[in-house]
Amino acid sequence: MINIEIWASGAGSNALNIIHYFKKSQKINVARVSSNKSSAGVLVAAEAQGINTHVISTEEFVNGLYLEDLKRRGVNYIILAGFLKLVPRSIVQHYKGRMLNIHPSLLPNYGGKNMYGDNVHKAVLAAGESKTGITIHEVNEEFDKGKIVAQFHCDIDPNENLDTLRSKIRKLEHDNFPQVIEEFILNRSNPQS
Ligand code: GRF
Repeated sequence: MINIEIWASGAGSNALNIIHYFKKSQKINVARVSSNKSSAGVLVAAEAQGINTHVISTEEFVNGLYLEDLKRRGVNYIILAGFLKLVPRSIVQHYKGRMLNIHPSLLPNYGGKNMYGDNVHKAVLAAGESKTGITIHEVNEEFDKGKIVAQFHCDIDPNENLDTLRSKIRKLEHDNFPQVIEEFILNRSNPQS
């Protein structure tokens, strides 16, 4: 089995969607859901699905202990689904090419520090864009700057508002993120490394 660990900071609708997608997979196993926030809804939701969860402390994140834990547990890939903390360099380097993030805009537009969730949608609407979408990309040391793996587009209607755009983007994410993760992992010559 190829083990993936999902990191999320919020409600975790993407995390849950990924859990459901891989539930019956013979190849990919969601080994754990971790969050930097003990109050994140994703932890309760993942536990209800029988998935192990963990709250990553800032200390273990930056002092290398969490990386050691990931290695010890044989985590092959890390998937960021609404994870709002910058990933330490040591983890980025160890998981280079094996860590994906999802972003609710067409990067490089509307990315960077503090560009997440509704902040992105509001900026897209304020700019009067006629199209937007989502980006799935590898993670490097900078927010939203890693190599782009896939993008999916949608139109912005003339009467689009924050609620409708948020729903549209979430649907695009749910419809595409698990499949992109699967292809990204299984298309490698050695998916386990
Ligand atoms: C998603 O829009 C994702 O693109 C962004 O954070 C949001 C997470 O939503 N990075 P959810 O917690 O998965 O519902």
